Amino acid sequence: MLILLVPLVQPCLLQALCALPDAHMHIDMRLPALHQCLSSFTQGCVPRRNSRNVLRLISRLLVPLESIFAVHVDEKSPQMYNELLHWVDANNLDHAVQIFSQFNIVRGGPNMLKAEIEGIRLLLNHVIHWDFCVLLSEQDYPMRANSAFAEYLWMHRGTSFVSVDEGECERDVSYQCGDRVVSLSGGVQFPKIPGLRYASGSQWFAISRELASLVGFNSTNPTCMVGTIFYDLTAVKQPDESFFQVTVLNSEFCTRYSDYTLHWTDKDSMRQVRSLTSEYNILSPGVLSFPKDAAKVQEVREQSLWAFFARKFDDSKESSQLKDYLDSQSGRNARKTWTSVRIPAAGRLMHVLASSLLQPTSLERLRRNVDALFHVQMLRANLGFERYIYFREKLSMPTIASSLLSLRVGCSWNKTELVFDGDVSAVSASSSGPHGCPSLWAVAHWRMSKKPVSEELLLVWTDPGGTPMQQAPISISEHSVLLWHRYTATQSLTHGRWSLEVRSSNQVIARRHFFAYGNPLQIPWQDVQEYFDIVPG
Ligand SMILES: *[C@@H]1O[C@H](CO)[C@@H](O)[C@H](O)[C@H]1NC(C)=O
Ligand SMILES: *[C@@H]1O[C@H](CO)[C@@H](O)[C@H](O)[C@H]1NC(C)=O
Repeated sequence: MLILLVPLVQPCLLQALCALPDAHMHIDMRLPALHQCLSSFTQGCVPRRNSRNVLRLISRLLVPLESIFAVHVDEKSPQMYNELLHWVDANNLDHAVQIFSQFNIVRGGPNMLKAEIEGIRLLLNHVIHWDFCVLLSEQDYPMRANSAFAEYLWMHRGTSFVSVDEGECERDVSYQCGDRVVSLSGGVQFPKIPGLRYASGSQWFAISRELASLVGFNSTNPTCMVGTIFYDLTAVKQPDESFFQVTVLNSEFCTRYSDYTLHWTDKDSMRQVRSLTSEYNILSPGVLSFPKDAAKVQEVREQSLWAFFARKFDDSKESSQLKDYLDSQSGRNARKTWTSVRIPAAGRLMHVLASSLLQPTSLERLRRNVDALFHVQMLRANLGFERYIYFREKLSMPTIASSLLSLRVGCSWNKTELVFDGDVSAVSASSSGPHGCPSLWAVAHWRMSKKPVSEELLLVWTDPGGTPMQQAPISISEHSVLLWHRYTATQSLTHGRWSLEVRSSNQVIARRHFFAYGNPLQIPWQDVQEYFDIVPG
């Protein structure tokens, strides 16, 4: 089964903000949220096995107006199809969950891919405009909260997660005949298309809307590149484990993908799975359960911050207990906790983005969810009577294709909490005094890679007059996800608009402007608007 996940904005936020007097609203329409699409069942012979997991998975990931699903049910399971239709109807979920059953899915054959693409088309036609489409199976379950997942996707906007192993692929001609997939070539390899880069990899993907559109609209057109790939790969076995890989490598998406998929599987429990209906065996992990796998799953949650889904789960009691365990861990970590802070520029943010009439009684900062690696500064000003106003840091994104995700500047980087304890983007020019910025830092977020990466880059701090004040070489590897660097010049910063750049040998990859103030009242309106947004809580 496949499920795709889609982020969007909450329309209700406008209402909440309008209750504030004299508010200037800047609502970032790219807030994190989720998308979901489709699912199909490979195991037609045991149709009811995981039906409860499917319902639980959808309920767990469903955020009204933030995620939508398309679920494909194998033609061989009409009972499951009817059950799901009934469930959607009974729960009034037809705006969010589309169930379809159009293909006879047999391992190794082309129909799994066809169901995926049909699901993508259904979702592209949905009124909700989503940003990511995630493929899930009926045996998956989330390891982290929806909000942590949405934040991660948001930080990776435009990135497609497709695991790509380039190189030799078996090209065994196969054919689906009724319920069977048979090999026709007896070991002979189907010729490759000259000039095309071939690859294979895990079936599980999370792709950007742009890539989904290319696939959804153009794969049936043999005169397009994607159509050529589709017809070539559906003639050979297991196209669902190569189509997205080959499409990524041969399109403009080749610079915008991560080979870390969002799924974790227990490699130690992999075993050969045979099937009566297909000549192709696959490797599949064992079922996860409680308490057997609790420690292992906990370790993955703590150490593999890219892992958002685990598999496989089923409807057994022990497996469901592990889901309960995961839900309680993710739920606890996702509970929002606020800590009192002193952020000297906050009054100015309030003045510019909300109203000069408001007098907050206190200021707090959202703590990082330890399940999430990436965090942006989120402040909450207490207006009394349980009314709050929230400010969210805006990030600088790279201007060219790069594994850099965002670039930040701020005061007092806390290396244990991985947050700025002080001002962000608008900082005091002085290291002491009432507004003082004791230490100034650059922080960069990067996309991980499984392939080795070795890049030498330069960080350049430039003052308002255009003079480079400090340069630092940085080395990026496939493991880079978070990098911090301290600005060490001893004299006070010149007041005004500075820039921090990440450069390769011949071009600027990203630029972060920041403002060095003597008094926060000097921070220009435009700069405040460039650095922060008002957001719903
Ligand atoms: C589909 O192919 C056409 C060319 O035939 C191209 O103009 C169009 O942009 C493609 N669609 C997408 C979504 O890439
Ligand atoms: C980092 O934050 C924690 C929790 O707020 C705090 O206890 C600690 O002192 C901070 N570290 C530094 C170096 O400021």
